[in-house]
Amino acid sequence: MTGRPVAVSAVRLRALAPADVATLDAWSADPGHFTEFADFGMPARSHAALLARAELEGGYGFLVVEVDGQLAGSVSWQSVAYGPNPESRAWNIGIGLDLAFRGRGAGTRAQRLLADMLFATTDAGRVEASTDVENLAEQRALEKAGFTREGVLRSAQWRGGAWHDLVSYARLRTDPR
Ligand SMILES: CC(C)(COP(=O)(O)OP(=O)(O)OC[C@H]1O[C@@H](n2cnc3c(N)ncnc32)[C@H](O)[C@@H]1OP(=O)(O)O)[C@@H](O)C(=O)NCCC(=O)NCCS
Repeated sequence: MTGRPVAVSAVRLRALAPADVATLDAWSADPGHFTEFADFGMPARSHAALLARAELEGGYGFLVVEVDGQLAGSVSWQSVAYGPNPESRAWNIGIGLDLAFRGRGAGTRAQRLLADMLFATTDAGRVEASTDVENLAEQRALEKAGFTREGVLRSAQWRGGAWHDLVSYARLRTDPR
């Protein structure tokens, strides 16, 4: 039978465990794994360093995405400042899923869960994400997760030997879910 891949049923975010490190490291070290949108020309770093890190330490957080009980990828977030006061801080989120879990709704649900969690556990009024203008899957996933397209950041990212435009998305605390 052909057609759309089977949608995932359970998506959850959980803390990184020691048993996840080898798989996540292998995915990061594989140049084909995270698509051309992750070609930053930097050596892959081990996820082991993240195990010892407290959540939100240094304005950075990392969680594993689990789909139907299996390790499927990760999400991360970092603080971005739009002014010197704490109220002007937003969260910028990122996501990467293993190839086997893409296109089945997990990216949408994981990013919705992450934004919900950040609004529930911090005072931030804004959760944002940016992605390559050609990364249509991520743009669509963000829109389905309740994010609004805000504009294009021209030549914002140096990747694969060239500058790339990014599309900026955000979800506000006051946006309807
Ligand atoms: C981007 C990513 C997180 C999206 O998660 P996902 O689980 O694959 O996405 P979903 O299945 O929830 O939704 C994808 C949507 O994009 C659509 N889509 C996928 N590829 C597309 C394409 N080339 N053109 C247009 N739409 C596309 C899908 O049809 C789906 O929309 P629909 O449900 O309306 O049909 C995931 O694909 C991934 O990890 N990619 C590699 C890493 C990456 O690009 N991370 C983001 C970097 S900023």
